[in-house]
Amino acid sequence: MPSTTTSLAALPQACKLCATEYAASPDAICAECLGPLEPMYPANRVLPDREDIERRVPSLWRYKEWLPFEGTPVHSLETGFTPLIETPRLASKLGVARLWVKNDAVAQPSLSFKDRVVTTAINAAHALGLGVVGCASTGNLANAVAAHAARAGLPAWIFIPEDLEPAKIINTAVFGANLVRVRGHYDDMNRLCAQLADRFGWGIVNVNLRGYYGEGSKTMGFEIAEQLGWRLPTAVVAPMAGGSLLTKLRKAFGEFQDAKLVNGAAPRLYGAQASGCAPIVRLVERGGGALVPEIPNTIARSIAIGNPADGRFAAMAMVESGGWGAHVSDAEIVAGIRLLAETTGVFTETAGGVTVAAALNLARDGRLTQDDEVVLCITGNGLKTTDVVKDVLPDSPIVDARVREVAALVASRG
Ligand SMILES: Cc1ncc(COP(=O)(O)O)c(C=O)c1O
Ligand SMILES: [Zn+2]
Repeated sequence: MPSTTTSLAALPQACKLCATEYAASPDAICAECLGPLEPMYPANRVLPDREDIERRVPSLWRYKEWLPFEGTPVHSLETGFTPLIETPRLASKLGVARLWVKNDAVAQPSLSFKDRVVTTAINAAHALGLGVVGCASTGNLANAVAAHAARAGLPAWIFIPEDLEPAKIINTAVFGANLVRVRGHYDDMNRLCAQLADRFGWGIVNVNLRGYYGEGSKTMGFEIAEQLGWRLPTAVVAPMAGGSLLTKLRKAFGEFQDAKLVNGAAPRLYGAQASGCAPIVRLVERGGGALVPEIPNTIARSIAIGNPADGRFAAMAMVESGGWGAHVSDAEIVAGIRLLAETTGVFTETAGGVTVAAALNLARDGRLTQDDEVVLCITGNGLKTTDVVKDVLPDSPIVDARVREVAALVASRG
């Protein structure tokens, strides 16, 4: 039931598979067929035009008609509208016409695109009268839930794999959340969180609030379209964990086409994974509808989900848009992080390295061509995974504060 103390109400939901309808509630799975629930938008709602949107504050709420609420949001009002950076130097490495980086490495407040999904989920928690939020996380979501909950003054319970990167643990614990390290993989935590949501009535953002959470990812697609000058790129490359972001990018571009805010063809969508956990890419390569779960083994911890909830939908988004998938080795991930940093001045975490390396492979295989205008979704910040690059970067020489010593160095570097 929507809380009576707020002017914010969550929209009702419908099953994506069998269309059974449900009143707004903290449930993400259809009782009839176990399909995922998605918010239902009123057919007669009034949509803004380009000028209306441009007049609004630069946050993801400028697209509020496509977010799953009626009324005024109360939490996380500043999230979104990250930079879209054109990178000609990286474009020439790939051999494509033009290339942009959508830079969610600087998303607010927690430096990953998970700020978007937590923004919608925490407002759903408020609208549904839930006083505690939580998540099962591979790292970035933990950072985001902890930060957004701190700002909102809500208690948070956060579950991560026991051996997660130290920076991701610190970036969660510092916000005062209840942080629990679980023996096992993401999929074990996900099951645990479903049980905990039932037991304690918590709003687990990516479990029982997943229908509301996922809609936040659409805003990355809306921003790409607006920041390109109200048009669509020909191709988008994005990393995949649960497969939600890729699925929602497709939905976002389709919604802007339907609203006549953009013209022309939808972009081809390319999903990127690490070879050590690539169940969605392998589904695309193999064909058919049955995803085969994997046990993750990769440095790309943030996208290491072996049994992705939206894997099938992400595979469909890639194939039906005319795109494809690519998976890359851990060495390619590190090289991808360095290439992006050296050509673009953006330091990304491992998921971004996966995206850049996948784009290189797709270009090499002729899937991205010299006619393409490509956007790479860079979804997280490199300061969270410094361990993977620290041993491959050159040592910095130490000198006395003498011009002579620096002159010798300059000469040695030609
Ligand atoms: C940095 C980063 N990029 C991409 C993803 C993929 O998100 P999704 O689960 O929506 O596929 C994640 C998910 O954890 C992430 O942390
Ligand atoms: Zn159903």
